[in-house]
Amino acid sequence: MHACLDRLPRTLVLLRAGEPSISGAEDAATEAVAAFASTAAIERGCPIACCLDQRALPDAESYLCTTDWRDVVHWVKELAVRGAPAIGASGACALVLAVHEAQAAGDEGAFLRYVEDAACAIRDARPTAVNLSWAVDRVLVTVKDCVSAGDDPSDASVRAFDEAHAIMAEDEAANRAIGRHGCALLPDSCSVLTHCNAGSLATSFYGTALGVIYAAADAGKVKMVYADETRPVCQGSRLTVWELARAGVPVTLICDDMAASVMASGKVDAVIVGADRIAANGDVANKIGTLAVAILADRYQIPFYVAAPLSTVDAGCLCGDAIVIEERAASEVLPKPIEGVAVFNPAFDVTPACLVRAIITECGVFAPEDIASALRLGACDNG
Ligand code: MRU
Repeated sequence: MHACLDRLPRTLVLLRAGEPSISGAEDAATEAVAAFASTAAIERGCPIACCLDQRALPDAESYLCTTDWRDVVHWVKELAVRGAPAIGASGACALVLAVHEAQAAGDEGAFLRYVEDAACAIRDARPTAVNLSWAVDRVLVTVKDCVSAGDDPSDASVRAFDEAHAIMAEDEAANRAIGRHGCALLPDSCSVLTHCNAGSLATSFYGTALGVIYAAADAGKVKMVYADETRPVCQGSRLTVWELARAGVPVTLICDDMAASVMASGKVDAVIVGADRIAANGDVANKIGTLAVAILADRYQIPFYVAAPLSTVDAGCLCGDAIVIEERAASEVLPKPIEGVAVFNPAFDVTPACLVRAIITECGVFAPEDIASALRLGACDNG
């Protein structure tokens, strides 16, 4: 069995109005940008960002397009685009739009101040996924380097655009490498449990945890994927099962509270999840409920793997206690408030390193306690 990845949509597209690639639109996202560019009065060369609106899935595949970085911030805050690497790529795209807009700010100082202020606002869109600040800072450094080298803002705008594209291309390449490394860890004919959505939708393409599953499916190793529904936003039941089914990978949806009995019945050979931030000691922040799954995996002696690019490792964060956990609206849990009832809705939890069998990265597979040194080793060939 092969995973049919050509049936999966692109999460994000960044193009310029009037570019040839817009008129020759080759996928739904590019088509959406082309339609947007033809209806709105957009100057030639202006960058356009477009994302698949994940809030509409699985009912509809609809795209949001804009030339305004504030819209992208709104998309990230409202979970139209979500998943740590996709949030990072969105942040990079948002800053590209801001850099384009900043060209009208005046002199070089005003240009840089505008870009820095926008970068701050973009970084603040969601606190837990470190990929957001990582990607925003990459584009910001590119812009600052250009200005320091004496380039004018329009050159900086071109370089920012290229940097955002590089971030997205590297993310996909990293995910494919994660897939190869993770596939080698799985036995033949295995059943895997996953939580939340760490799939292609959560990244530029291919996915982290689901990237491992796609690579394993291509190797004929996947018997079944059990996907937790992942309350309260239901990334599992709306997104994970949708994308796995689309790709032709066998998937069974379970409610979060069924994971224990599914594991107890011997149906699960491995657990693979993504991550939003990995601390230097190997503690892992991921979608709320991941900690419970890790405790269960430990109880039933099932290997618990985390799949994430090195851009998710925050070497400056010594342990999980230092990770800021986003709290979200009560309405996600209780759509109609009940008088006298308080709601606690943290979006993430922290799984201690001792429950993680290994962290699968684009540079190989690491024990959690070695993840900071893996990051320090730096570049790898994604092999
Ligand atoms: O709140 P979300 O949907 O952005 O949370 C996403 C997750 O927790 C994912 O599992 C994580 O970002 C890994 S994405 C490859």
